[in-house]
Amino acid sequence: MDIAATLAREAGELVIEGRARAEVTSTKSSPIDIVTQMDVAAEGLLRSRLAQLRPDDAIMGEESEDTSGTSGVTWVVDPIDGTVNYFYGLPHFAVSVAAVEGGTDPSTWRILAGAVYGDSGTEWKAAVGHGAWRNGQRLQRSEGPPLSATLLGTGFNYRAEGRAAQGKIVAQVLPQVRDIRRLGSASVDLCLVAEGKMDAYYEHGLRPWDFAAGALVASEAGIRVGGIDGGPADSHLLIAAAESVWDELRDVLEAAGARRPWESPPA
Ligand code: IPD
Repeated sequence: MDIAATLAREAGELVIEGRARAEVTSTKSSPIDIVTQMDVAAEGLLRSRLAQLRPDDAIMGEESEDTSGTSGVTWVVDPIDGTVNYFYGLPHFAVSVAAVEGGTDPSTWRILAGAVYGDSGTEWKAAVGHGAWRNGQRLQRSEGPPLSATLLGTGFNYRAEGRAAQGKIVAQVLPQVRDIRRLGSASVDLCLVAEGKMDAYYEHGLRPWDFAAGALVASEAGIRVGGIDGGPADSHLLIAAAESVWDELRDVLEAAGARRPWESPPA
């Protein structure tokens, strides 16, 4: 956890300092899925620091090929989660760094440690079985409000097919909750649920680096994080909510068509 927090902070300081000169250098899953030179630079920093500090571990990052390792631990890194906010000068972006064991498939991995360094200089971190912290203060969520009073975060995929399906789901969920927020950074969304600034969050089609660290922060803060069947969250669907409202939220999502809104999880 300390390594995750140190590296997330170092990369976070780099991207915050470089924001004014950020330029789009390429796109990924669709023309609106942008990469800036700062995403690439921050991932480079994370990879070189991990090579120094944890030379036997594998690395999976958003912006380049996986690096294999021998220790059984994989670092799952997102150099800028919330790249669109970052590029537009909006709040809510973060560097997300997590260590997992058991491979890189979120349906079978175990998240060991993680840190999310947000644009406001906020540091969230967690270690499995040991708890979660925001700027050094322990996070502990208990019961959430009823679903009708839940402030619910979500996000949208970069591909048109996914967005159309997600729009239909959100149209059915919105009348049943307090309101919906789409802040633009999955890792920050999860940390805000962990600290109670949003009540719950769900999203389809997240990539492992979007949620590894934030999911651990949320679950170590007492939030239930899972997939549609209550098993592990994965790249198909992640639902994070207080235990008291989780099943009801899942049922509402399922009735809205969230079980399989598209054939396979988007790339
Ligand atoms: C994105 C953000 C966004 C979520 C998208 C993610 P990126 O990550 O987390 O909130 O809705 O699904 O892809 O592309 O900015 O690293």
